[in-house]
Amino acid sequence: MTPAQSLLRAATGLNLSKAVVDRAIKNRMEQTAAADAEAYLRQMTPEEMTALVELVVVPESWFYRDPQAFAAMTEFVRARLGTEPGRLLRILSIPCAGGEEPYTIAMVLTDAGIPAANFMVDAFDISPTCVARAKSGIYGRNAFRAQDLAFRDLHFTSAGDGDYRVNDSIRQQVRFKQGNLLEFDLSARTGYYDVVFCRNLLIYFDKPTTKAAIGKLRALLADDGQLFAGYAEVPSFCQHGFTPLSYNQAFGLLKDSAAPAKLPRVPHAPRVPAKAPPPPAARSIASPPSLPTTTPLPLPPLRSRAPATRQAVTPTAAPGAPPAAAADLLAAARRLADLGDVKAAEKHCRDHLAQHPESAEAYFILGLLNELTNKPKMAEDYWKRCIYLQPDHYEALCHLALLAEANNDASGAAALKARAARIYKRQQAS
Ligand SMILES: C[S@@+](CC[C@H](N)C(=O)[O-])C[C@H]1O[C@@H](n2cnc3c(N)ncnc32)[C@H](O)[C@@H]1O
Repeated sequence: MTPAQSLLRAATGLNLSKAVVDRAIKNRMEQTAAADAEAYLRQMTPEEMTALVELVVVPESWFYRDPQAFAAMTEFVRARLGTEPGRLLRILSIPCAGGEEPYTIAMVLTDAGIPAANFMVDAFDISPTCVARAKSGIYGRNAFRAQDLAFRDLHFTSAGDGDYRVNDSIRQQVRFKQGNLLEFDLSARTGYYDVVFCRNLLIYFDKPTTKAAIGKLRALLADDGQLFAGYAEVPSFCQHGFTPLSYNQAFGLLKDSAAPAKLPRVPHAPRVPAKAPPPPAARSIASPPSLPTTTPLPLPPLRSRAPATRQAVTPTAAPGAPPAAAADLLAAARRLADLGDVKAAEKHCRDHLAQHPESAEAYFILGLLNELTNKPKMAEDYWKRCIYLQPDHYEALCHLALLAEANNDASGAAALKARAARIYKRQQAS
């Protein structure tokens, strides 16, 4: 790891590639007229560090991203207020990126008829630019990627140039602040939050940082609260004191201490992997906690998760380019897919495949792109090709399982989930 990578890792926790860090340093050297990278690092100030961090974070988010989490949260809030009607429920969104997630929480609860006096959302992000954007409450096309945009008519006002501004009734429910999860001061907030959203952050951390971050989140969450993670992050939570909820595709978790006593096992059902805490004492929010149930394997959302780095969209690599450039093509393809630019993303995948015809990852992304454009059969073909080339591709297996479920092929879905669970278990063991 280079000194610049270590510096940024220490400041953010992010596991950044050398290419991303070098690009950010080069950019800042130009802005600050530093003679060379060493001189730039030597003259580092807190303000300059903030500017550098801005260049490596991935502030990708949109309204109603992975909507099942919001439905599960609403049920939880309703149930809580059912037993304690006067209560103020405290909700944390960290990281909040440009505010899309915390505003979605406020919109969903408002639409569910939860009185404004009964909930409050605190939202943090390490990036001051993100926090400023969130406070402004103005959003362009990219923030509105959900299929159903009825919420925009209800809770936004046109701000011209195709932009929309969140209405004040929603804005007043959310408090934004710049903050680093890893440096969160717990003294006044231990057990403070009834609900925590921490989605699509831990995927950028290494294992020790993930553990430290989960320790912070565990401390912030009330013992009887609920936490919502990104789908790929659920297994890490299971390894560090959480139990998944069996609410479909919400990726919700409870603290182990809050989970009900062990429930009977259902034979052959996919389970959380061995290194995770003992087989899930899962609880469905929709059903009474005492019902025997299994915990589903964390499954991916329909849309691709954010790209692994904030790689700028890279130009097509020249033939014979080194592997790093090929990896850039895939990172760029993921980013383009997230931005909804399916055509360009597809081109990046194909360019990558021209150099690496056996790239399972490229086929995986092509599958996602076809799913996004409502071509499930094509998506299935690509994911099958992906697992043919890489039989232990966990995400492709999860997507195929979801597709099988959508096609009412329960036994096919169960077999795929079981296979994915075995792979996950093996990967954890190694
Ligand atoms: C991909 S966004 C996730 C936003 C939102 N939770 C979602 O799922 O749509 C990741 C965000 O994490 C923020 N971030 C990175 N490291 C952080 C840290 N240590 N503490 C707080 N925020 C961080 C970045 O600035 C970026 O906005």
